[in-house]
Amino acid sequence: MKNDIEQAGKLILASKYVVGLTGAGISVESGIRPFRGPGGLWTEHGEPPMDGYQKFLADPKGYWENIAKRSGVTRDFVKALNSAKPHPAHYALAELEELGLLKCLITQNIDNLHLAAGSKKVPEIHGNHQKLRCVECYARYQREEISLETLPPHCPRCGGVIKSDTVMFGEPIPVDVLRICQQETDKADCMLSVGTSAFVYPAAGFPQEVKRKGGALVEIDPYETDLTPFCDVSIRGKAGEILPRLVDCIKTKLQHGETKSK
Ligand code: APR
Repeated sequence: MKNDIEQAGKLILASKYVVGLTGAGISVESGIRPFRGPGGLWTEHGEPPMDGYQKFLADPKGYWENIAKRSGVTRDFVKALNSAKPHPAHYALAELEELGLLKCLITQNIDNLHLAAGSKKVPEIHGNHQKLRCVECYARYQREEISLETLPPHCPRCGGVIKSDTVMFGEPIPVDVLRICQQETDKADCMLSVGTSAFVYPAAGFPQEVKRKGGALVEIDPYETDLTPFCDVSIRGKAGEILPRLVDCIKTKLQHGETKSK
C-alpha cells in the first residue's frame, strides 16, 4: 500500500494536467450508499428502469406532485443526501486543487460534497440535488429561487419546464456540462479515479480516453473495477483513508524539493 501511494504521488507530480473523476464510493464514508458492489442500492434493488425522463416529460406535473409522496429507498436516499457532510477524502481533493496539482474534478455524484469541501472546478456530470434546471435553456437555479406554488414550475428566463438538476435515467447529459468534461479530459495527461465502478458512460469513458492518449491512470477503490486493468497504479482501500495519505505523501515530496511538472 505504502509503495502504491508513493507511486501514485510520483505520477501526479510528474503530470502536467491531472483531472479527477469521482463516483458514489467517495461519499460512502459520508453515509450515502453506493449503487453497485457490496451495500449498493442497485445491488439490493436492481438497476432502475431507464424511462424515468420519458415519464417526466409525459407528465411533469405528476412528477412534481409525486416528489412529496416519496417513500422507501428513494426517501432514505434523499434523507442521506440532505444530511451528508464532506469527509477527509473530499477535503484532500480540495487541497490537491489548492496546491495546483488537480486542475479539475469531474464528479458523477449529485451530493454537492466536493463543493461543500471547497473544491472549485467541479463539473457535475449527473447534476446536483440542491439545484433545479430548465429542460429548454439549461438555466440552473438554487431550489429556493423557484416557487413551487404552481406545478410544474417554469423557467423565469425562457418559460421552459423546470426539473431537478439531477440527471434522470434515460435523460441525455446536459450538453454544457458534457462539453466541459470532454474538454478537461482532452487536456488531461493523468486521471485520478476515486470510488467509481467505471460502469456508466459517458463518465466511464473519460479515463480510458486519457489512457488511450498515453496518459496515466491512478485508481482508489476497496475493490477491483472495470478500470483496474488499465491503471498504472490501483490502490485497494477506502477513499477516506487513502486520499489524505496520498496528499501527505505529495506534500512531503514537495517539501523535499521534488517539483511538480510544468
Ligand atoms: N472509498 C472508495 N471507493 C469505494 C468506497 C470507499 N469507502 N466504498 C465503495 N467504493 C467503491 C465501490 O467498490 C465501487 O467500485 O465505489 C464504487 C461505486 O460504484 P457505483 O456504486 O457503481 O457508483 P458510480 O460509479 O458513481 O455509478 C455511476 O451510476 O447509478 C448511476 O447515476 C448513478 O452516478 C451514478 C452512476
